[in-house]
Amino acid sequence: MPEIREARARDIQQLLALRLEALQQHPLAFSSSPDDDRLDLEYLQKIISEDRQVIFCAVHGENIVGMVGAFVQPQRKLSHRCDVWGAYLRASERGHGVGRQLMEAVVDQARSWSCESIHLGVTSGSKEAIGLYQSLGFVSCGIVARAIVDGEHAASEHIMVFHLE
Ligand SMILES: CC(C)(COP(=O)(O)OP(=O)(O)OC[C@H]1O[C@@H](n2cnc3c(N)ncnc32)[C@H](O)[C@@H]1OP(=O)(O)O)[C@@H](O)C(=O)NCCC(=O)NCCS
Repeated sequence: MPEIREARARDIQQLLALRLEALQQHPLAFSSSPDDDRLDLEYLQKIISEDRQVIFCAVHGENIVGMVGAFVQPQRKLSHRCDVWGAYLRASERGHGVGRQLMEAVVDQARSWSCESIHLGVTSGSKEAIGLYQSLGFVSCGIVARAIVDGEHAASEHIMVFHLE
């Protein structure tokens, strides 16, 4: 089973490659495209160096096979909430609880940041992700129709929140 740990500066090249794989394999699961993704080298360096941002990785030996990002907005009035982005696990690793472990690491992190809630958006085609989030305690607050449009394909987005106790 992969190990879950925080990303470090030396992981950046692998994270960029994994992110590209995610955007190419699941264009309707992510709002970014390979040619407009703002998650470049500098942005990843910034995320990894900041206190209230984190990327958790699933690591098999030396290979990063999964990732998820979480952050707290810097504004005081948003500091009670944790936002999640970019959950992805390589297809060959799915179905064994690794995605759950990545998200549990996010929940633990949000608690240690003293957040009240965790927020994310997930598109309608990502059935596994929606099932995972629901099983962790996320509830759907609404659905935005055609939140993502990619040529002739469109996806609605479920806005989901997990209220931490
Ligand atoms: C979402 C993702 C990270 C989940 O990773 P995973 O390791 O396969 O998930 P897990 O094995 O931990 O599954 C955890 C739970 O998800 C749910 N789940 C899994 N497959 C499901 C399916 N086909 N339908 C509904 N729920 C499902 C179940 O509740 C499962 O728990 P259980 O096995 O105890 O019943 C992975 O599927 C992925 O990378 N998908 C493509 C990218 C994507 O959609 N990202 C989401 C962006 S918001």
